[in-house]
Amino acid sequence: MRTDRTRRPARWYAHSRDRVLMIAVRVPDSLDHDQVRALSRLMVDDEFERMRRMPKPAADRFAVGRALIRRAVGSALRVPPSTVAWQLGPLGKPMLAGGAIHFTLSHCEGWVVSGMSNRASLGVDVEPIRGLPEAVMRRALLADELSRIEQHEESEREALFARTWVVKEACVKALGEGLARVRGVHVTEGSRGRWNGLRWEILQISDDVAAAVATKGAELRTALRVADVPALETDEAWTAAFGDLEGAFQARPSRPQRAGADDTEGDDPRPGASRVHPVRRIR
Ligand SMILES: CC(C)(COP(=O)(O)OP(=O)(O)OC[C@H]1O[C@@H](n2cnc3c(N)ncnc32)[C@H](O)[C@@H]1OP(=O)(O)O)[C@@H](O)C(=O)NCCC(=O)NCCS
Repeated sequence: MRTDRTRRPARWYAHSRDRVLMIAVRVPDSLDHDQVRALSRLMVDDEFERMRRMPKPAADRFAVGRALIRRAVGSALRVPPSTVAWQLGPLGKPMLAGGAIHFTLSHCEGWVVSGMSNRASLGVDVEPIRGLPEAVMRRALLADELSRIEQHEESEREALFARTWVVKEACVKALGEGLARVRGVHVTEGSRGRWNGLRWEILQISDDVAAAVATKGAELRTALRVADVPALETDEAWTAAFGDLEGAFQARPSRPQRAGADDTEGDDPRPGASRVHPVRRIR
């Protein structure tokens, strides 16, 4: 995979048939009421209720994440953002009914990051570089990963810990599994690598966070855009920032889900273990 941190307003995804499109959105400490209102207009009822039960910074990030997924996937599939519906795998991995587009989401203080592909299941993770408890990291890392990091200057270790962690979590999320599997992911040195049929790549989003994306199967090129919340607030702002993604993957219309029948790799939700978000009336 190769990362292009292009900032062109439109067609940043050019020739994206085999690409992973990543969008990272900076989230300020607190969104104002009008911003939350604009983002929540895209949500379905249960998302809105979930957001209302969250404390403020988490609620803002949740609203940004939902708006981002809905706008990006909606744009690629040529459907209104509020009608995008997905299912959850057994451990919570979101999957689009019909499998035309795979997507993934991660949030941490200050950032929401999503990724989309029409080719492969994918997972993303973003974490702050500072403040990850070292004791937790030590428990999560394998012996050779730890000793590799400990060869570096102390000032570099936090960032290396964080980078190793996000690769592990991105891989686990690409597989649709949970934190219990994180330690078992083996991370090699460098900014990209492979593990267990997955390819991973470090994303250069900002100096204060570590981020990585992992994809299942074929080598894909990664295009990354960084944006601010206002880009998600209206249809016009979205189009001005990202162009129209409808050609991004030469997306096929969604078709009925058949477990095990997806022509991309993996990702089929197990019957009975997933649910579909009801569509919420747009206010
Ligand atoms: C997936 C997981 C590692 C992410 O944790 P995190 O670092 O706190 O959260 P992130 O911000 O990086 O990612 C959250 C997003 O990942 C997605 N997600 C949730 N579970 C996922 C999974 N199993 N695989 C892939 N993606 C998942 C969702 O989109 C979620 O966003 P949302 O909360 O807005 O709906 C963690 O939620 C986990 O371990 N889940 C599995 C739960 C589990 O094992 N349950 C056991 C039940 S028997």
